[in-house]
Amino acid sequence: MNELSLHILDICQNSIKANADLIEIIITEDTINNIYKIDIIDNGSGMDKKTLSEVADPFFTTRATRNVGLGISLFKMAAEMTDGSLEITSTINEGTKVSTIFQYNHIDRAPLGDIEDTLTILILNENMIDIYYKHIYNNKIYIFDTKEIRKILDGIPFTNYDVIMWIKNNIKEGIINIHKEESI
Ligand SMILES: Nc1ncnc2c1ncn2[C@@H]1O[C@H](COP(=O)(O)OP(=O)(O)OP(=O)(O)O)[C@@H](O)[C@H]1O
Ligand SMILES: [Mg+2]
Repeated sequence: MNELSLHILDICQNSIKANADLIEIIITEDTINNIYKIDIIDNGSGMDKKTLSEVADPFFTTRATRNVGLGISLFKMAAEMTDGSLEITSTINEGTKVSTIFQYNHIDRAPLGDIEDTLTILILNENMIDIYYKHIYNNKIYIFDTKEIRKILDGIPFTNYDVIMWIKNNIKEGIINIHKEESI
């Protein structure tokens, strides 16, 4: 996986499996301190201490179909390739936080990729989870919040084609805008 958005999708799928109904994704780009940080926080079932201690091990999974869990290990590897790190904290019945730090300008730091596609896939999930996406680029912030959008849509479903297209464009443009250099 050489796009961070694909890792994010994978980590969020764990949250969906854990029955979360809210996932917060926070991306912090701090070019001054050379940090690219991704936090994924859910309010799902959480993990007990034993599971938590085993989770970053590529041979651990609670899946029954195969006995190798890869999602978290791959994300951890991607971070470590840039001299970064991954940390998980989790509380049973409260939720889980996966926090990953990359070195911003490291040659092996993957690009974000199509985050608007990842977010749309999550929004269209049958469980109707809420997504709160916050993207910070130095002092500029873009926020996408399904709770707010739901209010504006006033009953029009997220599955509506025009709604999907609007959402994708809004995210894409929002992220482009926070990366624009201020013109004097
Ligand atoms: N957000 C979460 N909430 C609760 N449990 C989690 C969460 N994320 C991971 N886990 C636990 O950690 C295990 C390992 O997760 P990981 O994503 O690495 O592998 P997997 O989901 O089992 O398999 P894969 O991601 O390869 O499909 C999961 O099986 C699950 O038990
Ligand atoms: Mg997984």
